[in-house]
Amino acid sequence: MTVTARRVAINTGGGDAPGLNAVIHGAVYAARNLGWQIFGIRDGYDGFLEPQNYPGGGGLVELRRSAVREISHLGGTILGTTNRGDPFCRPTRQQDGTFKDVDRSDELMDCFRKNRLDALIAVGGDGSLGIAHKLQSKGLRVIGVPKTIDNDLESTVLTFGFNTAVSFATECIDRLHSTALSHQRIIVVEVMGRHAGWIALHSGLAGRADAILIPEIPFEIEKVAAHLCRKHEEGKAYSIVVVAEGAKPVGGDVTVRSREAGRADRLGGIGETVAARLQELTGKENRCVVLGHLLRGGSPTAIDRILGVTFGAAAIHALSMGMDGVMVALNPPRIDFVPIQQAIAHLKLVPRDSEFVLVSRALDICFGGGE
Ligand code: F6P
Repeated sequence: MTVTARRVAINTGGGDAPGLNAVIHGAVYAARNLGWQIFGIRDGYDGFLEPQNYPGGGGLVELRRSAVREISHLGGTILGTTNRGDPFCRPTRQQDGTFKDVDRSDELMDCFRKNRLDALIAVGGDGSLGIAHKLQSKGLRVIGVPKTIDNDLESTVLTFGFNTAVSFATECIDRLHSTALSHQRIIVVEVMGRHAGWIALHSGLAGRADAILIPEIPFEIEKVAAHLCRKHEEGKAYSIVVVAEGAKPVGGDVTVRSREAGRADRLGGIGETVAARLQELTGKENRCVVLGHLLRGGSPTAIDRILGVTFGAAAIHALSMGMDGVMVALNPPRIDFVPIQQAIAHLKLVPRDSEFVLVSRALDICFGGGE
């Protein structure tokens, strides 16, 4: 197939995840090896749509090897990101000072044309890839790279960022064991993950939690309390309970920390509720630790660095093979290319009969339901 891209753009959108810089590193080297030019759009699409914020045309930066040589081990993204940057629905100030959602996608398409960009590598989660898919429908050539600590994207075994989040959460849980034991307390650890329980499940299993509460298995708090009390009677005087931010009680709903029009609800707070109820039901002293954005910060693990550089290089490879509208995906031992539409059709949630759930139950870890 003919090589059809010579000038490629890359951007990072949505919440950051460790490994973004590794993707940029991999893509830049692969593009330069083909003799292509590659440019980074700053802060999602803001570099194009808000030029006044980037004096001297700084919203689009050419990326040379020298600019990315030393970045793959760094957290965050050198390009910046935003989760308020949807070009199809952008809060825009009106003459009367109020804000209105405006579709600025045509303007954005013009920016790609004016800058003679042949294709976009969109690095993001379901939201950013959904935007990329809509831009593709308008005629932009797009390759997606799956990013999210939540690991909730279909069609790829792993998203980068997840391994770093799980590793750090596990380290935190390991540390909490000794203080929980010293005080004979129950410690509830709330972790991110939005509507998927992958981070809670993996870190809870690795960190030897006594209970793991995930959105996919609504819980009965009485069952969790009874489980902890039994373990206390059997001689384990303290407990660790890992709670996904999207966990919910049977018949109940997720706990929303804040709500803003046009944006996904910000989840959080279920950990405190669980801790308070467990204190009532068990009589044991309780503490709640919310790991929050700590899971998104810091250096990517070796796995996320390798995934990142490999995904970035694979995105360029996809363009060189003439592909369009596909997302790079890990399908061990291969890197695959799947339609973006398929990858964002629905969230990848933890199956209730997942091997990891079954092995957790076998290790006497309670989910508060679904037995
Ligand atoms: O999707 C990644 C994620 O970190 C979720 O786990 C979490 O619910 C959300 O982003 C938090 O977003 P924000 O950075 O806007 O608070």
